[in-house]
Amino acid sequence: MPPASPVLTVMIAAARKAARRLVRDFGEVENLQVSVKGPADFVSQADMRAEATLKAELAKARPGYTLVLEEHGVIEGSDRTHRFIVDPLDGTTNFLHGIPQFAISIALEREGDLVAGVVYNPVADELYTAEKGGGAYLNDRRLRVSARTTLDQALLATGIPARGWPGHAAFLAELAGAMAATAGVRRFGAASLDLCAVAAGRIDGYWERNLKPWDIAAGALIVREAGGQVTTIEGGPLDLTAGSLLASNGTVHKLVAALLHPTTSGHTAR
Ligand code: IPD
Ligand code: CA
Ligand code: CA
Repeated sequence: MPPASPVLTVMIAAARKAARRLVRDFGEVENLQVSVKGPADFVSQADMRAEATLKAELAKARPGYTLVLEEHGVIEGSDRTHRFIVDPLDGTTNFLHGIPQFAISIALEREGDLVAGVVYNPVADELYTAEKGGGAYLNDRRLRVSARTTLDQALLATGIPARGWPGHAAFLAELAGAMAATAGVRRFGAASLDLCAVAAGRIDGYWERNLKPWDIAAGALIVREAGGQVTTIEGGPLDLTAGSLLASNGTVHKLVAALLHPTTSGHTAR
């Protein structure tokens, strides 16, 4: 990995610091699985604590920057050109159930452009980083998206809309199409890590709806810097607020878009 810029160094240090406590709390959650009340309250406290650490560390190092925090909302800074976008615990349901697939996600936007991203899975000790124009890394290893070109070889990931969320019927239609045409579909449960899996070439594509900026900002840059493509499912430019996201190795992008959204993508899946 080339030397990180000063601000990426700050983001990595903040993620590692918040992760130390999060991992201790995760160990506790595993013990709480057997209790009647369950660990839900404890997990939301762990989430808030992680965010408080990230907020303090980022604000200390870059006092003027605006902070977009999943739990605390937006804290406007004096510097309106820079925004940190933070998910302190992505994969909450996994964390709650003792499944070690969760991450801290921090992105930096400069004048609306994603310029740095960190996604850290502390249990696996997998630190994904990217800076605009500088490539994407998993720990010290340069990342490159997969080279698969056909749908029948492509492994995809997705997110299943939760109970009470919109789009269940539409999702089932998309899933049916993906099941019929691809090598398989996974639901890992942490959007930031799904994007990093695309960047690492572990999977070839990932789609999900109802996502928030903090789920995807860092991971989207990491995919781009690994040579992949990120758009809305409809094929439009990445929009952090659109909620609709399709990421891929680039080669299968139009094929997957056509599979999911045959009427508007203008492409056929074959
Ligand atoms: C969730 C995870 C999940 C995705 C959801 C997100 P959270 O974030 O990324 O994989 O399917 O849409 O809300 O709530 O665990 O931070
Ligand atoms: Ca999230
Ligand atoms: Ca979260």
